[in-house]
Amino acid sequence: MKFEFSTNSADRISADILLVFAYASKKKEEYEMVANTSFELIDKLLEGQLSKAAKIDLFKGKKGEIINLISFGSVVPSQVVLVGLGEKDKFNLNELRKIFGTISKKYKLKADSITLSIKDLIANFKEDEVYHAIVEGVELGNYTFHKYKKEEKKNKLQTFIIAETKENPSLQKIIAKAKAYSQATILARDLVNEQPTVATPSYLADLAMQIAESDTRIKCKIFEKKDCEKMGMEAFLGIARASATPPKFIYLQYTPKIKTKETIALVGKGITFDSGGINVKPGDAMKEMKMDMSGAAAVLGVFSIIGKIKPKVNVIGLIAATPNLIAGTSLVPGDVVKALNGKTIEILNTDAEGRVTMADSLSYAVKEGATQIIDFATLTGACMVALGEEYAGLFSNNEDLAKKVQNAAEIEGELVWPLPLADEYKEQNESSVADIANIPSSRYGGAITAALFLKEFVNDVPWVHLDIAGPAFAYKDTELSTKGGTGRGVRTALRLLEEVK
Ligand code: BES
Ligand code: ZN
Ligand code: ZN
Repeated sequence: MKFEFSTNSADRISADILLVFAYASKKKEEYEMVANTSFELIDKLLEGQLSKAAKIDLFKGKKGEIINLISFGSVVPSQVVLVGLGEKDKFNLNELRKIFGTISKKYKLKADSITLSIKDLIANFKEDEVYHAIVEGVELGNYTFHKYKKEEKKNKLQTFIIAETKENPSLQKIIAKAKAYSQATILARDLVNEQPTVATPSYLADLAMQIAESDTRIKCKIFEKKDCEKMGMEAFLGIARASATPPKFIYLQYTPKIKTKETIALVGKGITFDSGGINVKPGDAMKEMKMDMSGAAAVLGVFSIIGKIKPKVNVIGLIAATPNLIAGTSLVPGDVVKALNGKTIEILNTDAEGRVTMADSLSYAVKEGATQIIDFATLTGACMVALGEEYAGLFSNNEDLAKKVQNAAEIEGELVWPLPLADEYKEQNESSVADIANIPSSRYGGAITAALFLKEFVNDVPWVHLDIAGPAFAYKDTELSTKGGTGRGVRTALRLLEEVK
């Protein structure tokens, strides 16, 4: 999408659509629309047609309400679109992002260009963040995955023109950054939406190599099966045993210009398809399991643009990539594998495979000297039961880091909610034959016991675990996403990296 500026007022800009915004206010039981300056101005130019139409249509300025009007020459744009922002005191930048997602979705096939006066929107917020949210909303709402459709619908929408604003380098920078955030999110979406026979461990590894080739500050190493054997990643390789496609352990490294000892490790669960293994999933639960590499997709998304945001910290990305399949060579319940850090794991259910592969990737992060670890994993159905499809579960052994991640997530509108790393439940992961079992003895609190399992592999390194099983995949279209991969975690991680001073 192009974002252009014009010092003209919006009514004089040649665009298909002119956007006008209004808030809602609750008077007694009823809502009514609250006009702002641009509404009043355009209404005047349209000789009151806007307020009249709003009345007929009973437009009340509620969040996401949209009405369309033909302008019949009273303003240059051929249509005026009135958009409700909801109640003013409930309005925030995350709502703004979603509103622009909705607009972009609604008109992507119908209009070439849209213009708006941004002044009313900026009033209560930081200008940078208003632009950031708008650009992300537009870019993310514009996303489709139609690679496998016979007829590819081409998006028509090309340009947003910001009225009454002079172009300047700092605005251009903000827009470029928001575009990069969106592009990284979209890469993650594409990876999740790709069919699992294509998006294999090798596919992810090749992409990681390409990312490294495009930027001298990024290095990539791919550990093949035999390398992983040598290192002692028996846990990861155990899960990979049933697969005909070779496993890959992906290591990405970004080095900043300034020297620092701080290293943030981003670890992504990389199960390219989760059949459940010998404990096979029922069909309904397996349908979407190409999404079980959403954590890996987030890490790759981040690295794809990390050179543009240039964080002042070393960053490593780690992905143990393999599908979890069924074969004569599969792990079976009762098997024991030894992780890279020497801890043995009794496999009691092959469908709890994510934590087993991550035992090795988290151990590797510790071994590499990471000073902070953030992991992204579609780890448990239990987290979805607890928090639904929008919120990621957040677990941490370090309050300070947890706050930073929560803050980054909040700014980017990627909802997270803290859940306890409850020591009280630790004994549920005990095994009678190994150091730990891969499923707990109780079926309650499954997101917590899974997080407690991971905790055994991060030692005392400050760590945040995000269980993104719910929000990584949308089961229906939403304001900012289409059905499928959402790219969850990418923007939280980018914000977090950018905030490192
Ligand atoms: N990949 C799944 C978790 C999942 C479920 C992600 C639904 C997204 C949507 C994970 O590997 C899994 O199967 N977990 C089991 C754990 C159980 C066997 C202890 C689960 O959640 O049922
Ligand atoms: Zn599983
Ligand atoms: Zn899984």
